[in-house]
Amino acid sequence: MTRAITVASQKGGVGKTTTVINLAASLCLAGRKVLLMDLDPQANATSGVGVEVPAADSDEFPYLSALLNGDPLEPFICETEHENLWVLPSSPEASDLRVVRDLEDADADELRQRMREAAEPFDYVILDCPPSLAGLPTLALELSDGLIVPVQCEYYAMEGLSQILPLVKKIKNNTNPELEIEGLLLTMFSPDLDLSHDVVDQITEFFEGGTFSSVIPRDVLLAEATSHGCPAFQYDCESKGAWAYVELAREVMENG
Ligand SMILES: Nc1ncnc2c1ncn2[C@@H]1O[C@H](COP(=O)(O)OP(=O)(O)OP(=O)(O)O)[C@@H](O)[C@H]1O
Ligand SMILES: [Mg+2]
Repeated sequence: MTRAITVASQKGGVGKTTTVINLAASLCLAGRKVLLMDLDPQANATSGVGVEVPAADSDEFPYLSALLNGDPLEPFICETEHENLWVLPSSPEASDLRVVRDLEDADADELRQRMREAAEPFDYVILDCPPSLAGLPTLALELSDGLIVPVQCEYYAMEGLSQILPLVKKIKNNTNPELEIEGLLLTMFSPDLDLSHDVVDQITEFFEGGTFSSVIPRDVLLAEATSHGCPAFQYDCESKGAWAYVELAREVMENG
């Protein structure tokens, strides 16, 4: 059975896209077939796995419209250079307000059914979201079984959680009873900073049992790898961040 996991937070720059790319790639490394579904018009996850992003003025039909119209999604699924990894590329068009509004009006069960049919050949779908809790992240949560919320080990760490947790509850009650919080993921941990340790202590105490044991360290190789369009373990196998994501993938696979 395919498992769909969204990575989301209303807070920008907390490591959502880095998590999507490196978690997806680590699952692939373990032999799982993964579809990366990029729902962020910034399209960083698309370029981060080496797939070209359609130009803003291109006529290319984004997969979101196909999903909405009930057209097959398969023609939009792109191969990547990475074994076991495919991507539904985002396009700057995804931010088009009309598409977002139409998606909000659409029947969530129907959209989920269509997405699930296209995702059948994959073990996991990993969804990347823009830093908001508006239409696109809401859609992602309606399509998903699980949610990972990256929490940056720096100032205002809790800020990213104040709105997403109630949103999950609302979606679970209204449109997607299957949705579960997979876990909070501590990112950009700096062992030399007291603040980083304080955030880890605070979050793990507050969300006991709800935080992944894997903690992602601050590691410049993660940033460099993304700019080269490849996962970090492939860019530099000595990357501590890369191996933290391999560990995260192990935890995710244990969850189901
Ligand atoms: N563990 C890390 N160590 C060092 N740099 C990191 C780490 N994780 C992410 N970064 C860098 O921090 C920046 C923000 O990360 P990323 O793009 O993954 O965040 P995001 O939450 O997806 O951002 P946005 O909200 O804009 O979509 C990027 O430049 C990325 O390369
Ligand atoms: Mg991002």
